[in-house]
Amino acid sequence: MKKIALLTSGGDSPGMNAAVRAIVKSCLHQGIQPLGIYDGYQGMIEGRGEVLSYSDVDNIIQFGGTVLGSARCEEFRTKEGRQKAIDYLKVEGVEGLIVIGGDGTYTGATLLGKEMHIPIIGLPGTIDNDIFGTDYTIGFDTALNTVIDAVDKIRDTAGSHHRVFFVEVMGRDAGFIALYSAIASGAESVLIPEEKTDLVKLSDDIRNNFKGRRSTIIMVAEGDDEGHALDIMNKVRPSLEGYDLRHVVLGHIQRGGSPSVHDRVLATRLGNRAVQLLTEGTSNIALGVRGQEIVTCPIEMAIKEHATPDLNLLQLIEEVRTK
Ligand code: F6P
Repeated sequence: MKKIALLTSGGDSPGMNAAVRAIVKSCLHQGIQPLGIYDGYQGMIEGRGEVLSYSDVDNIIQFGGTVLGSARCEEFRTKEGRQKAIDYLKVEGVEGLIVIGGDGTYTGATLLGKEMHIPIIGLPGTIDNDIFGTDYTIGFDTALNTVIDAVDKIRDTAGSHHRVFFVEVMGRDAGFIALYSAIASGAESVLIPEEKTDLVKLSDDIRNNFKGRRSTIIMVAEGDDEGHALDIMNKVRPSLEGYDLRHVVLGHIQRGGSPSVHDRVLATRLGNRAVQLLTEGTSNIALGVRGQEIVTCPIEMAIKEHATPDLNLLQLIEEVRTK
């Protein structure tokens, strides 16, 4: 194998740069040319790639975002769009492809792999942690640290003013960020898409949580079945007369920032293994981690199956909160 292309696609996540660095350096280590493609599949269609050198990826491990850029590309969903990308990869003499991203990124890579007959490997890069076949995605841990840093601050002001805060976090239609950050910040309740929200119970819980205490934090996943944090707050307001309710949407700050040690190590291990596997002839797999082990799963399975959080953790939150 003489040339491998790599790209980051979909929502950026902290640690993508660490993965890019690991892939590029591992390629160079083996005498393979790494072709970095800018702005995901959009850049592939437009022929915007560059063979990267050690110096291109030196000192990027500590940065959030992605030096390659990212995009959500509609044109790549069409056969015509993908053909332009294939033409470009052929001109460049690309023999393998590594993509870093989420479900959408994997789907694009699979279609391309079939149409061009090129080996592909996927690395899970998303803050949502919603990729099947891995315990953790690149960026999840950093996003959680960002969330709990914000919630700790919200707790200070909530306690000063005897307030109930509904804190909305990202995750699309998955509740991993809400669930883990609820545990880590000591939130009193959590609402996630994987569990039907019971607004009567929520109101009761808020009243009970508040007895003798100064604040309550409700973590709300953006994909909850009862709506966004503001909707939910407004729905329970009539049954919480006299309570001072506020909502906060943390938004895109969750996607930025310097990656945590966990994300840097995960990204570096996965990036290096991806190059190794491609050169050994492995294809059409998604990489992940189970415990300490790097694992693989067919990329089509990673797309088809859904990652779900351990719902026993909801009970854990109930059992460690003040009654
Ligand atoms: O998939 C990552 C994510 O941040 C989701 O949590 C969120 O729903 C979505 O991307 C937001 O996407 P955009 O930045 O395109 O609005």
